[in-house]
Amino acid sequence: MHKHCLITGGSGFVGQHLLAALTRQGHSATLLMREPQRLPALAQAIERLGGRADLLSAVGADLSSPGLALSAADREKVSEAGVVFHLAALFGWNLTTAQARQVNVTGALQVAELAVQQGSRMLLAGGFMLANHAHLQSLGVDLQQPERTDWDAVYRRAGGYEGSKLEAYFRVRAYMAQHQGALTVVHPATVCGHSRSGHILPGQPLASLIGTLAAGQLGAIPGSAKHWLPLVSVDFLAELIMAVGFDEQQVGQDVLALDAATPNLRALVQELAAVLKVSAPRWHIAIPLLRALLKIPGMPRLLHSDAQALDFIQTKVFDTSATQALARRYQLTWPDINEALRASARYLMERG
Ligand SMILES: NC(=O)c1ccc[n+]([C@@H]2O[C@H](COP(=O)([O-])OP(=O)(O)OC[C@H]3O[C@@H](n4cnc5c(N)ncnc54)[C@H](OP(=O)(O)O)[C@@H]3O)[C@@H](O)[C@H]2O)c1
Repeated sequence: MHKHCLITGGSGFVGQHLLAALTRQGHSATLLMREPQRLPALAQAIERLGGRADLLSAVGADLSSPGLALSAADREKVSEAGVVFHLAALFGWNLTTAQARQVNVTGALQVAELAVQQGSRMLLAGGFMLANHAHLQSLGVDLQQPERTDWDAVYRRAGGYEGSKLEAYFRVRAYMAQHQGALTVVHPATVCGHSRSGHILPGQPLASLIGTLAAGQLGAIPGSAKHWLPLVSVDFLAELIMAVGFDEQQVGQDVLALDAATPNLRALVQELAAVLKVSAPRWHIAIPLLRALLKIPGMPRLLHSDAQALDFIQTKVFDTSATQALARRYQLTWPDINEALRASARYLMERG
């Protein structure tokens, strides 16, 4: 049966692929957009990704405004949505706590409130670092009683973006539990381009890494042979988000969207370098040393890196057995992640 969905972040990378996947299957979607006048151009982009423009509509809304700046008429228009996919987030390595909190935490709570008021399910995009409990504890997150966490201290350690993603997750979860709302959370690893076309948007963290490597600005590989940057291809992620968003059995569940076949960081960089026809760095640099260097004013610009990005390079081996079982249940095939990496590099290289 075709469903009607509400989606925030539809103009973003994951959002575009989710809209293509939803409309390809005949589901309709209303987008909450800061600039709804951009819908026609976005709808064309979604058609190029294999979706259907005729099933898309948009209303004006801003996560950082009280009441999402949704008019009463638009609130009525979106009230029929069966599922609210909340993908929007403010991303950047230099966000202040206040900026990140306003959009990523207060905004997410407003979306949760909307979902509860209209009786919709909510699908929240979290992040894979939420599945690394040792990392959360090292940042000061109280996993037993998250409401007791000193969030300002977490933001100081993790930075605005990561701090706000963590706080948003725990606060939205508490809000939905308190109001008997139906919540499912998908935690994506760093998102790789489409496994065949390589389609990726320029602002994406992986696209930045590819750009740095292509420009010959990656002097050494952060970490050791045990370090990796877990990935998931955007096409697999979109299909997984759609499937769990419609699956009643996933209410109350957290789903880790991470491809366990991602190579270690050294092999990942070599794979990309071969496509880009540049030489891959041969040496590793220890993460604590790199972190210390990046604290020196001017160094992030000089090293084309940011200390906040280092948290995503890990040695942890994640348990993906539950996701593997879901993929089998929904008949989703994991694309070859090495091929997705190569396709992403080719896609960006062809576009300069
Ligand atoms: N990409 C990754 O590697 C990755 C990894 C783990 C988790 N995630 C999470 O997955 C989700 C989707 O990521 P993405 O990479 O697709 O994001 P993205 O490409 O950066 O897009 C962000 C989206 O958020 C919207 N947005 C930002 N501020 C807004 C505001 N104040 N009001 C309304 N909309 C606003 C943007 O709309 P405009 O067009 O108006 O700017 C855009 O559609 C995010 O929650 C992200 O944290 C991403």
